[in-house]
Amino acid sequence: MEQKISKIEKDYSEKIQKAQSLKELDGIFLALFGKNGELDLLPKEFSKLSPDERCRIGPLFNAVKQELEKTIEVRRNEIREQSYIKLVDEKLDLAETTQIKQRQGHLHLATQFKKEIIDLFENLGFYQFDAPHVEWDKYNFETLNIPKDHPSKDMWDTLYIDTSKLGVEPGQMLLRTHTSNFWSRLMEKGQTPIRAMSFDRCFRYEAVDARHSHTFNQFEIAVVGENITMANLKYLSDCLLKTILGEEAKSRFRPKYYPFVEPGVGIDSLCVFCHGKGCKICSGTGWFEIAGAGMIHPNVFKLTGQNPKKCTGLAWGFGPDRILMLKHGIEDIRYFLEGDLKFLQKY
Ligand code: DAH
Repeated sequence: MEQKISKIEKDYSEKIQKAQSLKELDGIFLALFGKNGELDLLPKEFSKLSPDERCRIGPLFNAVKQELEKTIEVRRNEIREQSYIKLVDEKLDLAETTQIKQRQGHLHLATQFKKEIIDLFENLGFYQFDAPHVEWDKYNFETLNIPKDHPSKDMWDTLYIDTSKLGVEPGQMLLRTHTSNFWSRLMEKGQTPIRAMSFDRCFRYEAVDARHSHTFNQFEIAVVGENITMANLKYLSDCLLKTILGEEAKSRFRPKYYPFVEPGVGIDSLCVFCHGKGCKICSGTGWFEIAGAGMIHPNVFKLTGQNPKKCTGLAWGFGPDRILMLKHGIEDIRYFLEGDLKFLQKY
């Protein structure tokens, strides 16, 4: 029995010294003092001993028990101390974090561009007019000389609003396909003369890819008054292009059909990449279209209650997302809406 007790003492003292974690020590404690632990089972054998032996073994057993308990406690404190020292050694040097520059937000490329253009046109005497995104067919099409069921409506892939629960005839409410709705509204209100602009979102039922988005911006202007001519249109378009692309920017007017203008034109800019020689970006033509424009059609004056004999006007709808793509070599129009930080931080 004495040997057994000293063996336990020796083995467990070594184990305790070698233990590296509190968890390991807990295991050792249980193996000794837990239910069916070595020191828990041993006293059950004392009954087999003679009274003499019992007198010797009893105190020895108690001494070893206390000694092992104490050794565990001492080792426990050592381990605690070591892990504390480790923590202190690993302490974070927060001084470094003060050197990290705070990231600062900035305006989105499209918003910067909007500000620049709005500033320019405000200086030219234009005021901003916001028209609704959810619009009536009347202002998006009808008063713009695009009657119901007219084939020219197919020029716009329109997203219609389900009005079945609103008691509104189907096809009357839509997401505006262009910003031209702003001037049909202004004219119907009789607010002439007009020198107004809108830089805002439009929506179309598009198959989304690198060049097409269901949501995009347009910059539209309308000037209505007496003796407005194509020369005014050319002057304004040059002002805009030279501001965006620099003094050397060149543009041309090409006849193009839009139901609400006569004559209608497509405004092309000389390709900024190849300067007219023809490259991949301008599909070899040397030019790229940036706007639709023209002189407001007499029918639009009639439909909005104006006198076509007295009133003249010009309007254009310009694609700022497109020109930003060309100016900065942005390959995918979807970047404008995605909020990808890598893209946003670049501009
Ligand atoms: N609203 C036309 C479109 O989105 C663009 C346009 C063409 C606007 C001619 C105009 C204009 O003001 O005169 O396709």
